[in-house]
Amino acid sequence: MPKIKVTTFGLIFPLSVVLSGCGGDTTSNGAAPAVTVVAPTPSPPPTPTPPPTISGIVDFTTIDVSRLDNYANPVLPAYYDGTVAALDNTPNNNAISDRVATLGRVLFYDKRLSVNDTTSCSSCHQQASGFDDPQRFSTGFSGTAFTSAHAMRLGNIKFYRPGTMFWDKRAASLELQVSQPITHPIEMGFDSTHGGISALLTKMAASTYYPDLFTLAFGNAAITEARIQQALGQFTRSMISSASRWDTAYAQVFSATGPNRNLNVSLPGFTASEDLGRQLFMTGPGQGGAGCAACHQPPTFALAANSLSNGLDANETIIFKSPSLKNVGLSRAFMHDGRFSTLEQVIEHYNSGIQNGPALDNRLKTPGGAPQRLNLSVAEKTALVAFLLTLTDNNLTNDAKLSNPFKK
Ligand code: HEC
Ligand code: HEC
Repeated sequence: MPKIKVTTFGLIFPLSVVLSGCGGDTTSNGAAPAVTVVAPTPSPPPTPTPPPTISGIVDFTTIDVSRLDNYANPVLPAYYDGTVAALDNTPNNNAISDRVATLGRVLFYDKRLSVNDTTSCSSCHQQASGFDDPQRFSTGFSGTAFTSAHAMRLGNIKFYRPGTMFWDKRAASLELQVSQPITHPIEMGFDSTHGGISALLTKMAASTYYPDLFTLAFGNAAITEARIQQALGQFTRSMISSASRWDTAYAQVFSATGPNRNLNVSLPGFTASEDLGRQLFMTGPGQGGAGCAACHQPPTFALAANSLSNGLDANETIIFKSPSLKNVGLSRAFMHDGRFSTLEQVIEHYNSGIQNGPALDNRLKTPGGAPQRLNLSVAEKTALVAFLLTLTDNNLTNDAKLSNPFKK
């Protein structure tokens, strides 16, 4: 079934051949000025691509190449303004396009990216869980080996300014991170004993849909690790969370010029407990709050660039990061090793459990340098949990353009 783009190209191509043929075929520089002068066509797409033969895409996925989903220009609330844009870790050479992000969607959900066709990115980053894994440790491709860290939610990953990835920040960028699970000996299995990434590239080239999808995305069918990294980077950066109950309420009071951008005013529709939790979250410990927002920064709730560790273990030297707290209420295990199974345990950690060590952030210490003790009341702890639950964003978990596109 021909799609719109195929038809368009089908018309332009024979026409331009005929017209430029009058001027005497190929010129020395290969340009064909006659085409641009006389062709009565609308402006061409930014990267002209030959028409993909889409039969494999149609066969395997629900993607309609003539009507791609919108990844490049998401509609964002007014408070996702310049201050939020300044946190964006998108590199100059990988701005989001609908075509490349669409390829990223297919890659993200494709179990064939694992050595035995069992495991995709989405096995451990499940949309219904805010792209987290309900298990404390994730099951790798073998079914019997597990990751040693808890999986991470991916919402608002774009707004962690340093751009370093993994709990311990060992990957320098999202692009460099996203192909590591593929070659990981436990996660997806294309390690050196299984032929490495080149074995995967060969496998993909033999599929009926990847050559067409890469042509759609990049203009030719070359399948490379760098292109996989670009596509998965674009797709995961499209996982923006801006529609939780907190967002809807904050949108009503946001004022770009207001004091503290109005982050610390009561929110419409919040219960008394949720609003107390909001106040504790946003206010510093010196002012009677719990000081959370200094590191988990609204409105994205991604971690501040300068955050050090949060004192889980005494004498810790590694500086960990946190994923955005958006959708934290959908997670079932918390912190890099998933040691806490409830948000109540998380709050108790900040209340009474902070351990001292070289990596502990000053914001979690008393002025004298001891680990903070917040001495929260039961009602205040309950309120902080209630507030964290207002960060659940069902738009992210239900967004069709972020969902599994596979028919088989
Ligand atoms: C078997 C489970 C599993 C699979 C499969 C998996 N991941 Fe992960 N992912 C994890 C775990 C566990 C972590 C945290 C690991 C760590 O920090 O050491 C993680 C971390 C990440 C991070 C870092 C997030 C941050 O904020 O720093 C990104 C991005 C990511 N994964 C994307 C992907 C992509 C893309 C794929 C598919 C190519 C994928 N993952 C496949 C389990 C998995
Ligand atoms: C100094 C910065 C800092 C402050 C202040 C802070 N946190 Fe954190 N938070 C972190 C870091 C770093 C992690 C990741 C720690 C790890 O896993 O090793 C984290 C992890 C978390 C997590 C788990 C995230 C996940 O995906 O597992 C929650 C929930 C959380 N913090 C809530 C809070 C709350 C509530 C407060 C206020 C009481 C708070 N934080 C104050 C830095 C901070």
